[in-house]
Amino acid sequence: MTARTRAALEALPGYVPGRTVTGAIKLASNEVPAGPLPSVVAAIADAGAAVNRYPDTACTALVEALSARLDVPASRLAVGCGSVMLCQQLVQATCTEADEVIFAWRSFEAYPIVTQVSGAQQRTVALRADHVHDLDAMLAAITPDTRLVFVCNPNNPTGTAVRRAELERFLDAVPDGVLVALDEAYREFVSDSDVPDGVELALDRDNLAVLRTFSKAYGLAGLRVGYCVASEPVAEALRKVYVPFSVNSVAQAAALASLDAADEMLARCGDIAVERDRVRDALIDAGYEVPESHSNFVWLPLGDRTTAFCEHCLDHKVVVRGFAGDGVRVTVGSPDENAVLLDAARTFTR
Ligand SMILES: Cc1ncc(COP(=O)(O)O)c(C=O)c1O
Repeated sequence: MTARTRAALEALPGYVPGRTVTGAIKLASNEVPAGPLPSVVAAIADAGAAVNRYPDTACTALVEALSARLDVPASRLAVGCGSVMLCQQLVQATCTEADEVIFAWRSFEAYPIVTQVSGAQQRTVALRADHVHDLDAMLAAITPDTRLVFVCNPNNPTGTAVRRAELERFLDAVPDGVLVALDEAYREFVSDSDVPDGVELALDRDNLAVLRTFSKAYGLAGLRVGYCVASEPVAEALRKVYVPFSVNSVAQAAALASLDAADEMLARCGDIAVERDRVRDALIDAGYEVPESHSNFVWLPLGDRTTAFCEHCLDHKVVVRGFAGDGVRVTVGSPDENAVLLDAARTFTR
């Protein structure tokens, strides 16, 4: 007897993680180069000594700390096992099989996966020629079946961002019954004041859910904690579809300790933003097209030279993330790591 799994899973795209190659520099997964602060390592060790106990499934202390830091009522917060899990929870909380999720393409590669895993329908809208979300086209793509629209700002993998005025116009025009998920996984690397802070926007709106993560700016990618700021009913719905205990106790402790050290972590993000602009300028000088980035990575729209560029980088012991036929995403590493990447880029014959 064989077990029967859902036929639709046959068509599910697999998530392609950035590769780790022994002896090579990894600039493929948008991680930050530095490890956790000593205070965070100590909190991880302390929490590790008590893992015979289940975690607090409500993440009470973390929710309280986030509420105080963001000045958002705890009732409007939901914590998840990485913001990718919150993406899936948002689909599960808003869509049945007849309903539709809209997202830009190319954007975060988990959106089609979480949509299809949840059994919902998907509709994609091409980015503009400048690699920025086409919010007018996304608005026009909304149908009576649409329940959720992901806007990734800054966008993974292009690093581009929509500005305040266009985003507010879009949010004002989205029809009733449609939730906009503003994915701000890279918010802390934004240095342009015209790129809006989603949490500020969410406080005045019921149709906006903002996703943030401890994986990037706070360097806790291996521990899996993200959070969402939304209206009370949406936050409550997210808590309903939460897999019990899925944010573990070590992750909760590390996130709390990281919030205590937020100023230091955010200063590191500022340094990475400066380094990002330097790397971008150097790549432009070397003859590449590189859209303005607001994140901790840059995008090289190399089209059909994508795979050759990735192989060339690997020959130089640098792993980057290629999207075949489309482009290459390069994470900003330490200055030494970036120097190796730039050497490789300069010797790539196009
Ligand atoms: C745009 C975007 N959203 C969400 C995530 C998920 O982050 P995590 O699940 O580690 O919080 C990522 C990770 O790469 C991302 O790029």
